[in-house]
Amino acid sequence: MTGHDDLMKLAAVAAGCTRCPLASGRTTVVFGDGDSDADIMFVGEAPGFHEDQQGLPFVGAAGKLLERLLGEIGLRRDDVYIANVLKCRPPGNRDPLPAEIEECKDYLRRQLELVDPRVVVTLGNFATKLLLKRDVGITRLRGQVYPWWRRHLVPTLHPAAALRGGERLLDQMREDFALVRSVVDGAESLAAVGDDAVEQLGLFS
Ligand code: URA
Repeated sequence: MTGHDDLMKLAAVAAGCTRCPLASGRTTVVFGDGDSDADIMFVGEAPGFHEDQQGLPFVGAAGKLLERLLGEIGLRRDDVYIANVLKCRPPGNRDPLPAEIEECKDYLRRQLELVDPRVVVTLGNFATKLLLKRDVGITRLRGQVYPWWRRHLVPTLHPAAALRGGERLLDQMREDFALVRSVVDGAESLAAVGDDAVEQLGLFS
């Protein structure tokens, strides 16, 4: 059984998930999208209106920006894997609640194990806090590469925040995407991460 098959099985389980009250308000579970064997995995916050309608992450305005920034470092959406902390849309796009993150985080943990990316890019505060476990805001954490479970983690702003915040925030995202490019290109530093990257991620326990 390949990682892709296991991801499909997990997506089928998630499609019927009723672990938290968001289940009753969703149109579709937004599990994840992209290359199940990707070197780079993006983790966003939660589906919005368009994602909930279409069942795919980052298909609205924030997704368009994500695709543009990927294009600027020579990548297409299909080259990466994209998932969110929450798989169901919070009403009115409010922030995820701690209890919702708690119920949902096992799906993300398994996705990270199965895709097994070399580089994880967290988009915004919720994904960054969940994975890096630091009580520091994204504006202070971004701009650096962090070692993370024998992988590299690059925290950056949420594209929706950059869309609201104007050119300065867009430039910060561009800097962070350039970091992603250089980490992916840097075979030497990745070699130090090792080939034995498949492990049980205790990160959410
Ligand atoms: N914002 C997110 O965090 N995720 C999406 O899928 C879309 C918008």
